[in-house]
Amino acid sequence: MVREGRKCVGIIFGGNSNEHYVSISSAKTVFKALNSKINKERFRVKTFYINKNGVWFDNNKSLEVLRKKRSDDKTQEYQELFNGKINFLQNVEFQSVDLWFPLLHGLNGEDGAIHGFLKFTQKPIIGGGILGSALGMDKIMMKKIFSHLAIPQVNYLAIQNHDLSDDNVKNKLSDEITEKLNLPVFVKPANSGSSLGISKVKHKSEIIKALEKAWRIDKRIVIEEGLDVRELECGIIGNLKLYTSKIGEVIYSSDWYDYDSKYSKDNQIIIPADIDYQISEQIKDLAIRSCRGLNIFGFARVDFFLEKISNKIFLNEINTIPGFTSKSMFPMLWNASGLNINQLVAKLIDISSDF
Ligand SMILES: Nc1ncnc2c1ncn2[C@@H]1O[C@H](COP(=O)(O)OP(=O)(O)O)[C@@H](O)[C@H]1O
Ligand SMILES: [Mg+2]
Repeated sequence: MVREGRKCVGIIFGGNSNEHYVSISSAKTVFKALNSKINKERFRVKTFYINKNGVWFDNNKSLEVLRKKRSDDKTQEYQELFNGKINFLQNVEFQSVDLWFPLLHGLNGEDGAIHGFLKFTQKPIIGGGILGSALGMDKIMMKKIFSHLAIPQVNYLAIQNHDLSDDNVKNKLSDEITEKLNLPVFVKPANSGSSLGISKVKHKSEIIKALEKAWRIDKRIVIEEGLDVRELECGIIGNLKLYTSKIGEVIYSSDWYDYDSKYSKDNQIIIPADIDYQISEQIKDLAIRSCRGLNIFGFARVDFFLEKISNKIFLNEINTIPGFTSKSMFPMLWNASGLNINQLVAKLIDISSDF
């Protein structure tokens, strides 16, 4: 039976980002949830896959990508296709979409790019808007606003407008970093994701290499004092009122949560995290204040450090399009808080706004 009046949800996934394959996995989870018995009554879905070259695919081709067993099938023809035309939206039919569900992680998506693009369609979008997404993605701007709001964060230095192809500049920066911050430090591109381009530096002699690695990804770099921490994460959903999920902890066996450990099978996720009630309340309060401060709404995952020695909380970062794969923290946090994945996606649609 064809049900009239069902909302058409446009899922956008893939994208020109180093988190392309994670995005495909996230889209598979959301697609399945929207096709669950309960959600099928209310929603229909159109899918829009963007390949690594930025070419958009229509619903039929996009569905083929979602139906493949593996999300990281690098051999698939779709990855390579690039028709070289400026009109990258040729033959892609948007008209019937009632609201958008962008699931593009990292650059060219989570940073507000897709939100700006979709604004022209004048349809509601699930998640935040352009400003909050861009601020949440940019570690320098995010930290500047957090300082202003007195949100606890680790000591840091921001490097921008420096020419790191110049050896003198690099040597000077290396001196400045060791004068102002205690080693170890984390050197990070201001805009990246999945820990790509990040180095943990224990000795001064390694700083320049780490700066060069981050510079290859972004010309704006953050250096942070490295602490010995537990890593706690909190989910946020809502618009006029923001709601927090339970707090989760991720435990990994490597020295820090680098790219390999993020996608390793050995990680453990513990929900609720084994922390004091006061700490959990402090995290929830900071999660809401930080999202409000950056104008982030809809949904987000806010990540914290709990310093082991001092038991102090520091805000690490906010992810404005958190992972939605079956093993991702965000849906697991909400599942533990009373919303299973089918209910979660329906809730996100119900609260989506015309930013
Ligand atoms: N200041 C820090 N002290 C201790 N560990 C850190 C620090 N900064 C980053 N890390 C480690 O690096 C990981 C990735 O850093 P993060 O800023 O979250 O980058 P991304 O945006 O790529 O996830 C963190 O999850 C943590 O394990
Ligand atoms: Mg992180």
